[in-house]
Amino acid sequence: MNNQKKILITGGAGFIGSHVVRRFVKEYPQYSIFNLDKLTYAGNLENLTDIENAPNYTFVKGDITDEVFIAELFEKHKFDGVIHLAAESHVDRSILFPLEFLKTNILGTAILLEAFKKFGNISNGLFYHISTDEVYGELENEGKFVETTPYSPNSPYSASKASSDHFVRAYHRTFGIPVVVSNCSNNYGSHQFPEKLIPLFINNIQNNLPLPVYGKGVNVRDWLWVEDHARAIDVIFHKGKIGETYNIGGNNEWKNIDLVHLMCKLMDEKLARKPHSSEKLITYVKDRAGHDFRYAIDSTKLMTELGWKPSVNFEQGLSKTIDWYLNNLQWLNNVTSGAYKNYYKVQYSNR
Ligand code: NAD
Ligand code: DAU
Repeated sequence: MNNQKKILITGGAGFIGSHVVRRFVKEYPQYSIFNLDKLTYAGNLENLTDIENAPNYTFVKGDITDEVFIAELFEKHKFDGVIHLAAESHVDRSILFPLEFLKTNILGTAILLEAFKKFGNISNGLFYHISTDEVYGELENEGKFVETTPYSPNSPYSASKASSDHFVRAYHRTFGIPVVVSNCSNNYGSHQFPEKLIPLFINNIQNNLPLPVYGKGVNVRDWLWVEDHARAIDVIFHKGKIGETYNIGGNNEWKNIDLVHLMCKLMDEKLARKPHSSEKLITYVKDRAGHDFRYAIDSTKLMTELGWKPSVNFEQGLSKTIDWYLNNLQWLNNVTSGAYKNYYKVQYSNR
């Protein structure tokens, strides 16, 4: 790729996407960064106010499933690189609305691949697909996911991401499109929509609302600081080997209930509440259907071949994350008004 790249980042107004856009706009002033986002409930331009006027940044509102619109956009700009994050990303919503996940995550990815094949820089560019460790299914108490672990997705979300990964691989094999895929574990950090465990529980503790722990709270997730993920994406985009997959994880496994207790302790301190007050909000509720027991990622390939490693200690990262939400209550209020209330009712009442 030449140095004056035109790069399309999809889903750049979402949680991880906004961190990736910010990083690329700031670190690479020589690139033209286009952020394509439909601005669904999860997309929010308030996530990007600090870079919205940067000379190398353009926001485009649009839907990756709109084939004509996407073809015209690619024909006009002939992108050198695509970093594809746009997706429906919440497992619980995929249980409520599986077909929306199929449409956005599978069809949307295929439409982008087709447009890149026709109009993108396929001789010297890159289509980089951002995926999840959930495509590998679930683990028992031992072992970790490696890049060669067979796919075994269990939720409509992970099935749709697995399918989109396969389309990316197939476009490489069949059409010679230069691609790379990364599969990452659970991210946490600022600007995450409060439907996922950490921001939802921060919001509920702050408002003294019940903390709905699914099942017995024994499921395990491997948490990664979102800016470490954005840095991994930067490294893989620039140094990753075409046609390869890279796993990205925090080497940081937490049982849900232990994480919830840590959040309660940190928030009691920050909100000057009596010790152990927030943990009284913990409420065990009906388990998630098909709930994967444990995820754990082996990132050895990324660390040894490309020199990346996670940088943030989890307790410090979690503390910084909580501080961000407490310092941005207006952001939190804006995203939890309106449709959020209805979602919350459907998801958590009668549970
Ligand atoms: P998010 O839900 O916060 O953001 C998704 C973004 O995509 C939003 O800005 C939304 O408006 C946009 N979008 C949705 N449908 C679109 C469409 N049809 N056209 C254009 N834009 C559309 O998601 P996230 O948590 O930031 O995840 C980003 C990507 O990373 C996803 O592909 C997800 O599968 C993957 N991922 C997420 C995690 C995680 O822990 N959050 C971990 C691994 C991988
Ligand atoms: O592993 C990567 C994946 O991590 C990403 O691909 C997904 O986009 C992202 O949403 C995330 O999926 P999870 O389902 O693991 O994340 P979530 O925050 O929804 O849930 C984390 C754990 O907490 C999980 O075991 C379910 C549990 N949980 C979640 C919620 C929202 C609860 O106990 N109560 C809740 O209210």
